[in-house]
Amino acid sequence: MKTPLPPALTAAAIDWTARRLARARLSFGHGTDNARDEAAALVFHAAGWPHTAAPGAYRWRLRRAARESLAALVHRRIAERIPAAYLTGVTWFAGHEIRVDPRVLVPRSPIAELIGHRFRPFVRPERVRRILDIGTGSGCIAIACAHAFPAATIDAVDVSAGALEVARDNVRRHRLERRVRPRLASVYRGLGTRRYDIIVSNPPYVPTGEVAALPAEYRHEPPIALEAGADGLRVVGAILRGAVRHLQPGGVLVVEVGDSAGAVAASWPGLPFLWLGFEHGGGGVFLMTREQLAPRPRPTARRPTRAR
Ligand SMILES: C[S@@+](CC[C@H](N)C(=O)[O-])C[C@H]1O[C@@H](n2cnc3c(N)ncnc32)[C@H](O)[C@@H]1O
Repeated sequence: MKTPLPPALTAAAIDWTARRLARARLSFGHGTDNARDEAAALVFHAAGWPHTAAPGAYRWRLRRAARESLAALVHRRIAERIPAAYLTGVTWFAGHEIRVDPRVLVPRSPIAELIGHRFRPFVRPERVRRILDIGTGSGCIAIACAHAFPAATIDAVDVSAGALEVARDNVRRHRLERRVRPRLASVYRGLGTRRYDIIVSNPPYVPTGEVAALPAEYRHEPPIALEAGADGLRVVGAILRGAVRHLQPGGVLVVEVGDSAGAVAASWPGLPFLWLGFEHGGGGVFLMTREQLAPRPRPTARRPTRAR
């Protein structure tokens, strides 16, 4: 069925779009968490306006071509359940514009909030020189870290060649080629003995058997970005096992594991996971220091030997 043309006044077009998206009972888990924000993103994209034109642009009128383009976007969003960010090709992460397409997960990690705080109080930001982002996807975490830590270099690894093309493009757009280095590799492979102040990761963590039950929007994302074996812990396990070797003394490991948090805690009962809280929603992110990952054996209490 052909979608009718939206109204010409921008504010009315946003209302019109939001009503349709809400009625369609879509999943809003991809960067925006409600119909209205997503409607505004689609309207501004159709009009070719930057989001910084808001709120003044709410009073502007859309040309006919923009209204037709908006109607087509709304139709595809509802009929094909394509995440809005794939329709517009762009999203925001920690306040930075990131280009996306179906080769990469749509950035939405609550780790953005930690980067906004420069990982304080767990890190002394002025001391951070080297960061590793495992499973970089679009490059969003690596790029946001590079902006937050201007003295740091960031290794950004991913096993997907397609994702790395997107990451490289984003790194270029942010003019960060000298400090962000995308690398095709699995977890720590090829890093030798390199050590980092921060290892950060939003790896795949959905048990394979649970992927089919996710809302249809998630099936537009690369399976390799979501699935991580029968228990969802394949990549998380590899990250935990190698972290001590690749963290500087005093370094921290920060990993998003989402709904697999319970399985993670149960699988490594000896590790003191610190589960972080977030002001802007989200969870399932743990932090651990190198010392917590590999506690140094306490010196055994010895009786002092007396000088003879
Ligand atoms: C959940 S996505 C996260 C993407 C991005 N960091 C973000 O937060 O939006 C996980 C990423 O990990 C990558 N990946 C999967 N297995 C990996 C592995 N063994 N080593 C490195 N990256 C891996 C996937 O290709 C995907 O890009």
